[in-house]
Amino acid sequence: MNVRLTDGRDLPIEMHKVRIVQRTRLAPAAERLAAMQEAGYNTFLLRTRDVFIDMLTDSGTNAMSDCQLAAMMVADDAYAGGESYYRLADAIRDVLGLEHFLPVHQGRAAEHLIAKTFVKPGHKVITNYHFTTTRAHFELMGGEVLELYTSEALKTDSTHPFKGNMDINRLEAAIAEHGAEAIPFIRMECTTNLIGGQPFSMANLRDVSRIARRHGIMLILDTSLISENAYFIKRREAEYFDASIGDIVKAMLAEADMMYMSGRKSTCVRGGIIATNRREIFDAIRPWLPVYEGFLTYGGMSSKEIEAMAVGLREMTDLEVASSSADLIAHFVARMVEEGIPAVTPPGGLAGHVDASKLLPHLPQTVYPAGALAAAVYLTSGVRTMERGTVSTDRDVHGNEVMGDLELARFAVPRRVYTMSHIEYVVDRLKWLKEHADLVGGLRFVEEPPVLRFFFGKMEDLGGWGARLAAAFEKDFGPEA
Ligand code: F0G
Repeated sequence: MNVRLTDGRDLPIEMHKVRIVQRTRLAPAAERLAAMQEAGYNTFLLRTRDVFIDMLTDSGTNAMSDCQLAAMMVADDAYAGGESYYRLADAIRDVLGLEHFLPVHQGRAAEHLIAKTFVKPGHKVITNYHFTTTRAHFELMGGEVLELYTSEALKTDSTHPFKGNMDINRLEAAIAEHGAEAIPFIRMECTTNLIGGQPFSMANLRDVSRIARRHGIMLILDTSLISENAYFIKRREAEYFDASIGDIVKAMLAEADMMYMSGRKSTCVRGGIIATNRREIFDAIRPWLPVYEGFLTYGGMSSKEIEAMAVGLREMTDLEVASSSADLIAHFVARMVEEGIPAVTPPGGLAGHVDASKLLPHLPQTVYPAGALAAAVYLTSGVRTMERGTVSTDRDVHGNEVMGDLELARFAVPRRVYTMSHIEYVVDRLKWLKEHADLVGGLRFVEEPPVLRFFFGKMEDLGGWGARLAAAFEKDFGPEA
């Protein structure tokens, strides 16, 4: 929520009270250097005791509400037929308008089951943009992922409100080229993660849905960030200015045949679901659920999380909840732009993003500028971010390096966790880094896993720039900062 100040500025303001807190600590620069070296210049491999502000992800790291915590106390732990499952079923029916669902332990488990059921070797899976785990699952089943984004999608400096849209002409052309039978489904990702949390519009979703129906192709929504995408539709698409988040969410889902979600984002829990109104889709996936996840009524989630998800689904349609990180991100991005930091615009739904190819123009993609920026941010601030560029893009089947479409450092803003002063600190340290960008060098893999290499890969700082950067920072701010 924003409130209008006397001088006309909009202030993103928290519509909640903070009643439980968790201590955090700013390790001094020398300690951060040692931690970064130990982690192989990969922020995934840091320990949280060495992290001051954790902006690695908004996945599973959001603040839960009092009502969610209370609901966890009445969880019904049963292997089969537990009441918690039926309470989640009610919420899914009420909020999403969907009758059949399968709980799974998290989003990628849903992707796994969908890929296993529907993707066959040679298939082309069409999407507005891939997500890392999504692509891995579809490719492991022998499918190929076609990303039919628009010409705006990869412009990091833009005013286009819906950079997550699918290019309708490219969609028609791809169906004509490959034939509908080669396309198991079209996947639209809400608040498209890897291009900067950018939403698609309802108008675009309707166009995609119409074409999918005409060709008899299934349309699947990745709804991990559906409340944020709905919020952007409300704010940016005139037809929906007066609509509620709940109505927009239902209208989005009415266009699709099936949805799956990581519940770790919009619903602030640890879990996931697949849901549909088409009984035959549910029947096709259900046999695999007990094989890979668990029995139908818990499917790999703890019953406590199932209860919290039932509440989280209802709460995410609250305007205050749906806007809680989006408005802070908008402020964060505006502050970065003010300071001349190349932030991705317009602001997206899960994070503020910095375009590393602009902040570190001297680094070619072969030495991973976004990875270097994520490491440099940690060294100079204790803030943990995530590389979303070439490191996050695996090699092709021949082992050749594939350059990322973008080189972004992602500063995730978990819902209701951080405040304006945290954001102001981050912007300040980025400002210092921008002035010392020439001190940041490239990275090189010393340990490179064969799949999703960004999780466990270890790198080294070419020429030992990390120590020089930490020393320059210490010179300006002292040994304790
Ligand atoms: N789809 C999207 C759009 C996601 O952002 C994620 C996870 C997944 C699927 C997979 O879900 O993690 O529950 O298995 N995104 C996290 C992130 C990991 O940091 O952006 P999961």
